[in-house]
Amino acid sequence: MNKRILVCGFLMMFILFGCSKQTLEGSVNPHREYGEHQSELSYDKHYVTSLNYPHTNIEILDDAIKDIIHQHQDRFLADVANYQEEEIAEFNVSYQSYIKDERYISVKLDIYRTIYQTSETIETLVYDTKNNTMIDLFDIYDEDAMQELSSYTISYFQTNFPEECNTSNFKIASSPSLANFNHFVLRKDAIVFYFQENTLFDRSATLEIPYDELNEHMHLKSEKPVFVAYDQVLNEPVKNIDPNKPMIALTFDDGPTKKYTPVILDALKEHHASATFFVLGSKAESEPKILQRMILEGNEIGNHTYSHKQLTTLSKERIEEEITHTQESIYKVTNQYPQIIRPPYGSRNDTVLQCADDKKIVTWTIDTEDWRSKNTEKVVQIVLDQVEDGSIILMHDLYASTAEAAIILIPELQERGYQLVTVSELYAYGKNNAGKIIEGK
Ligand code: NI
Repeated sequence: MNKRILVCGFLMMFILFGCSKQTLEGSVNPHREYGEHQSELSYDKHYVTSLNYPHTNIEILDDAIKDIIHQHQDRFLADVANYQEEEIAEFNVSYQSYIKDERYISVKLDIYRTIYQTSETIETLVYDTKNNTMIDLFDIYDEDAMQELSSYTISYFQTNFPEECNTSNFKIASSPSLANFNHFVLRKDAIVFYFQENTLFDRSATLEIPYDELNEHMHLKSEKPVFVAYDQVLNEPVKNIDPNKPMIALTFDDGPTKKYTPVILDALKEHHASATFFVLGSKAESEPKILQRMILEGNEIGNHTYSHKQLTTLSKERIEEEITHTQESIYKVTNQYPQIIRPPYGSRNDTVLQCADDKKIVTWTIDTEDWRSKNTEKVVQIVLDQVEDGSIILMHDLYASTAEAAIILIPELQERGYQLVTVSELYAYGKNNAGKIIEGK
């Protein structure tokens, strides 16, 4: 072959590769959330090498990335050594990188090689900044819950690709062994598994599982998955509470609810006001984002028991269960234990006080009876008629009428000179004149 034709051919191939790669990346919309983009292009008579990877400035992670690339590159070079075809061979690495929160960084490498045919390998790396180490699945997922992961995978693909799942390859590659699930990245709210080509199917496959689906088996909870991420962007709410000016606590019981709690939170946020939400343990875990938002925006969460039973009718063990179970549910999603308890109906006796332990029992000074009237005007009127310095106002984030009342009351009470604070703030500033915050025993 004439040398000029060879160079031309090579350039043509190069342009083609360049173009096809761009389209490919455009179509997969690469996430590059972490690291400085590095690009190295080199070519030989018979092949092109194109390496794209992140430089993360984390030694262990950068070394791991380079190790993996070099392993594949060495294998490619060995295979291409005797390659004499006219078609230029290619070794191509591209990547995506993800930040889950301030703790976990993941890198996915897509390694394409074309010698006689094209093959693709996916490699993943997950780095734990807290322990300065690379992790594998069992660092964040229960070893004995592989069956659940396998079942989830099988049912997902059987639902979406029913015709392709009846192969022995599929059976083997979806079985509950670590080897099948060791390629994954941690995104903000989902773990994403990758299955290589010729495992589940001829082509490679991706399975995204929201963390919520695997809650009980994942060990990510304690790291405040969403909480920390938000915490980085949002500053701690700044509160300028003047101890010499009147202050009151709005309290909302029996929630959270998807429909009304966010409306009340919006109104509080708009006016830089705080409130206290006495949530039910049974509802807390299903609305983690609402609870996290409450805390991040400077509100307080109180324990309103797990199932809203009248505690004075229960045995000591049952009371403890109601309280503890709720403490744990709230801690799971906010990383904080409530310091205050409001027993349903305000019912309490000595046993309830004992079970409260170091937490305070909180009742109220103004009962809006919002559940009875479900009338915005009546609720507003009761509050404005009775409010005074130190008031603890009882409402429920269960009704449209109450959310409406909150929207009216929050600016109106501020207008009248009241600072809207949490119950614990009220207590801290000594505003317990009505004796409605009671020490546990
Ligand atoms: Ni209640």
